[in-house]
Amino acid sequence: MLLEIAGLKAGYGGVTVLHALDLEIGAAETVGLFGPNGHGKTTLLKTVSGLVAARGGTIRFDGVDITNRKPGHIVELGLVHVPQGNLLFPDCTVAEALSLGAWPRRARPREAANRARIETLFPRLAERRRQKIHGLSGGERQMLAIGVALMAEPRLLILDEPTLGLAPKVRGELAAAITELAGGGLPMLVVEQDLRFLGAVCPRLALIDRGQVVLEAPSATIDEAAIMSRYFGDAA
Ligand SMILES: Nc1ncnc2c1ncn2[C@@H]1O[C@H](COP(=O)(O)OP(=O)(O)O)[C@@H](O)[C@H]1O
Ligand SMILES: [Mg+2]
Repeated sequence: MLLEIAGLKAGYGGVTVLHALDLEIGAAETVGLFGPNGHGKTTLLKTVSGLVAARGGTIRFDGVDITNRKPGHIVELGLVHVPQGNLLFPDCTVAEALSLGAWPRRARPREAANRARIETLFPRLAERRRQKIHGLSGGERQMLAIGVALMAEPRLLILDEPTLGLAPKVRGELAAAITELAGGGLPMLVVEQDLRFLGAVCPRLALIDRGQVVLEAPSATIDEAAIMSRYFGDAA
């Protein structure tokens, strides 16, 4: 197993968000995680990346116990997280942001090659190399955020709601890029509210409900309509 999460507990102050959560990701697997807002998806990803303290349980990455290790140490091991929302520094250019992503010791020697690979995956980033981040569209920012993470040469890439707030066309571009990354053998854990997007890019899905994984199944066997009406209301 590449990632083994067992009995994970985490929360904020007096509130417990993750209640003994279990989840495993295999060596070359891309897993989609979905569930209602506020049920702990982001908290799970942050706990795995060392940004929120685990209060119980263990997280093992490629056999190494990373529970409550420092975030920088976890990135050095190859577990790289693209957070929810746009957290890129607005005054950086696209090229500068990509350089910053290459900070892990492991990835530095291949900075130029990695940059070329990312600009092939996202041609829009190559076109906007010298533009500042504040001038980019939402879709371009998300591409850049993924590009910055790829500069660190992830062995497991974690994406938190990459298509949040984006128009269908750019969602399609992101889905194609994520599918290409998965096809190239990069394991991923992807959180999304858009179940159709998630099913298209991830062969296996896990449903998180009130801080626990309550269902794991191949995407093809998931009854989208039943899940949407049960967990998201009929409007979805
Ligand atoms: N920094 C924080 N401090 C206190 N409570 C938080 C914090 N971040 C998230 N929460 C709470 O934890 C719960 C789970 O949030 P989150 O993990 O962001 O859910 P999701 O990503 O599934 O929407 C929610 O009730 C949310 O209000
Ligand atoms: Mg979230």
